[in-house]
Amino acid sequence: MKKTNGVAAAVAAVALFASSAVGQTPSACSTVLVPTYSPPSVAPGWTAQLAVAGLTTPRSLLWDGAGGLLVVERTKGITRHTFTDYGGTCLIPDKTTLLVNNTRLNHGLALSADGKTLYASTVEAVFAWEYNERAGTVSDTPRTVVNNMTNNDIVTRTLLVSKKQPGMLLVSRGSSADENIVKAETVTNGLSQIRAFDLTRLTATSDPYDFSSSGDILGWGLRNSVGVGEHPVTGGIYAVENSIDGVTRNKQDIHETNPGEELNYLGFLNGTTKFPGPNFGYPRCFAVWNATEIPQNDGLNIGDQFAIDEDTLTDEVCAANFTAPRLTMPAHWAPLDIKFNADGSAAYISFHGSFDSTNPVGYRLSSVAFNPTTGDPVAAPDSAHDALTDILTNPASSVCPGACFRPAGLAFDNQGRIWMTSDSTGEIYVLEKSTSTPTSSASGTIVTTTGTPSSGAAGSGMLASWGQRVMGLTVAGVVGGVLAFY
Ligand SMILES: *[C@@H]1O[C@H](CO)[C@@H](O)[C@H](O)[C@H]1NC(C)=O
Ligand SMILES: *[C@@H]1O[C@H](CO)[C@@H](O)[C@H](O)[C@H]1NC(C)=O
Ligand SMILES: *[C@@H]1O[C@H](CO)[C@@H](O)[C@H](O)[C@H]1NC(C)=O
Ligand SMILES: *[C@@H]1O[C@H](CO)[C@@H](O)[C@H](O)[C@H]1NC(C)=O
Ligand SMILES: *[C@@H]1O[C@H](CO)[C@@H](O)[C@H](O)[C@H]1NC(C)=O
Repeated sequence: MKKTNGVAAAVAAVALFASSAVGQTPSACSTVLVPTYSPPSVAPGWTAQLAVAGLTTPRSLLWDGAGGLLVVERTKGITRHTFTDYGGTCLIPDKTTLLVNNTRLNHGLALSADGKTLYASTVEAVFAWEYNERAGTVSDTPRTVVNNMTNNDIVTRTLLVSKKQPGMLLVSRGSSADENIVKAETVTNGLSQIRAFDLTRLTATSDPYDFSSSGDILGWGLRNSVGVGEHPVTGGIYAVENSIDGVTRNKQDIHETNPGEELNYLGFLNGTTKFPGPNFGYPRCFAVWNATEIPQNDGLNIGDQFAIDEDTLTDEVCAANFTAPRLTMPAHWAPLDIKFNADGSAAYISFHGSFDSTNPVGYRLSSVAFNPTTGDPVAAPDSAHDALTDILTNPASSVCPGACFRPAGLAFDNQGRIWMTSDSTGEIYVLEKSTSTPTSSASGTIVTTTGTPSSGAAGSGMLASWGQRVMGLTVAGVVGGVLAFY
């Protein structure tokens, strides 16, 4: 009896898939949102589409197990979004609810492995709510699980719940701008570090973990590691570091193309790595991106740790005492999230882009190839640009940050599609990689029209030839208020 039902259900599912697959070409999407700025450029083999707009500074996002997309909207709280999925990148928003009304939540978001506890953070604390994904509701009053994190300057507290080591919650806390504190940065003051807390040890009556005096210190000397990711095969923890602005060397300005942003390796949570983990240098030593710009650069290459003032600290001490990045990335690109694909062969990194560069840089989604078995990046530690592959870029960075998307949070859905927030524009993009290798180097597709593209345009990436753009007007009425923009 049970078996018969199962087979019937499987047949029905196949039939459903087959019928929806017919309509899966991007051109079949009947309601399409279009950005107000030049649409993004897409890598060969990828299709991208704007899925949600009109949000309030959306940062981290994740999928629950019941088809709800949870998003931290800064100065608002956590919203939950459901969609009708027409396949490919065509998903039309159905319903949006304000799950948590808390204007101080500013970035961090995570779900427990069983999906029943939701975590989010303010500058001061990590809160936990009981979460019912079927009903799309949370318990009224959250419990505080980590606290005492307030400091100025870096105020986001990125959260990661380990999938490999159940119950471990990682929290990234950046630096303070208070100069005396910066100078005295120590492992015990709880600044500029990523810690892991064992939530299984909290009893019903325990106090929250005090960030600076509890947990395991995975790494320190980290100015602002906004993105934290776990390799799905090995459980290796990686973090992306936003390095300093306005750096000098022996009093000479070298900030234009230095220091590099960092991809740092922080070890395993399973007991093999001994904590406290390494110091990555901040605020004493930084990673070289462009050695040519650095005076007295003898022996310095990409990724090497260098000193700001060689009279007080030498490059040799920097190299000996502090840990260099596993990969170094271009200066000022501002990596905000890192998420691995399911088989561990790639990490996707969102680059928010520079905010005050004379030549604006960054503003893209890129990937880094990983060896899925060893969990290491494929590229050598001294690799330059070629360690990164562009997936979604703005056609011209010169008009950024004003007229561009600015990537923040990333999340995979259960079909392997990538969801990406753009905080400055209040948007969420969805991207899908074709299962076949692209046969040419022609660019991918950004879906900005409904109906069938004019002949010859498909696959060429020539958006302009797709005819008149359909603004978000056709979706009016689909979701009251949520898509009210343009
Ligand atoms: C959120 O809470 C604030 C007060 O804390 C209240 O003024 C506001 O109406 C609430 N918003 C919603 C949508 O419930
Ligand atoms: C909070 O953290 C600071 C260090 O950042 C520490 O000195 C203090 O004892 C901690 N606890 C409380 C209750 O303030
Ligand atoms: C921890 O994980 C790593 C990578 O999978 C593995 O090599 C190591 O043996 C594990 N250690 C323990 C104690 O299980
Ligand atoms: C490196 O710095 C030099 C000197 O400032 C500059 O001319 C060059 O364009 C920079 N190279 C890159 C790749 O940014
Ligand atoms: C570097 O390491 C040496 C040897 O452990 C130690 O004496 C020195 O104080 C360290 N310097 C810095 C700047 O951390």
